[in-house]
Amino acid sequence: MKDLEMEPVFEFTSNSEVETRRLGLAIGGTLIPGMVLGLNGTLGSGKTRLTQAIGARLGIPEGEIVSPTFTICVPHEGRLPILHLDAYRIRQPEEVDELGLDELTEDGVVLIIEWSALIESYLPHIDVEIRILPTGTETRQFRFRANSDRGRRSLVALAEQLSPPQN
Ligand SMILES: Nc1ncnc2c1ncn2[C@@H]1O[C@H](COP(=O)(O)OP(=O)(O)OP(=O)(O)O)[C@@H](O)[C@H]1O
Ligand SMILES: [Mg+2]
Repeated sequence: MKDLEMEPVFEFTSNSEVETRRLGLAIGGTLIPGMVLGLNGTLGSGKTRLTQAIGARLGIPEGEIVSPTFTICVPHEGRLPILHLDAYRIRQPEEVDELGLDELTEDGVVLIIEWSALIESYLPHIDVEIRILPTGTETRQFRFRANSDRGRRSLVALAEQLSPPQN
């Protein structure tokens, strides 16, 4: 916890899809309205799986969140409104400007953006960046970095949820 206050990073090792699910459920419980999450990692690293688990925690029906491959973004109504974006196939990043993302976040919509690094200059400030590194067929290393006070608060809450203090 002290570490997170000084250096706003947090790491989580997932050894299975079930553990990634647990991570996503925990993240879903620490989101702050209007937050922007950027997800980066190679194809098949688990960005959509993580988003699905975040959505599940917010009460978004299973099966509703899919890879938004041919649409830039899909809105979902859970306990918080979510906009799920996938930048992988965006041909003209300027299209992102037309989505009015700043206004949406001001209204409390949480943005979850797969491949956010590809369109970063067109996005609102990213509060939490999540890098997923596949370390084996079933294993993934998740690296979180908070870029704002809001992101930091959310990461502190996440770290607490995932490793409650021992005493
Ligand atoms: N520990 C794990 N966590 C998450 N996914 C895992 C894990 N182990 C294996 N997988 C598999 O990895 C794949 C992750 O797929 P997913 O669609 O979430 O990736 P993605 O990062 O969204 O890819 P894309 O860049 O194509 O959108 C799934 O097939 C899943 O079964
Ligand atoms: Mg995906």
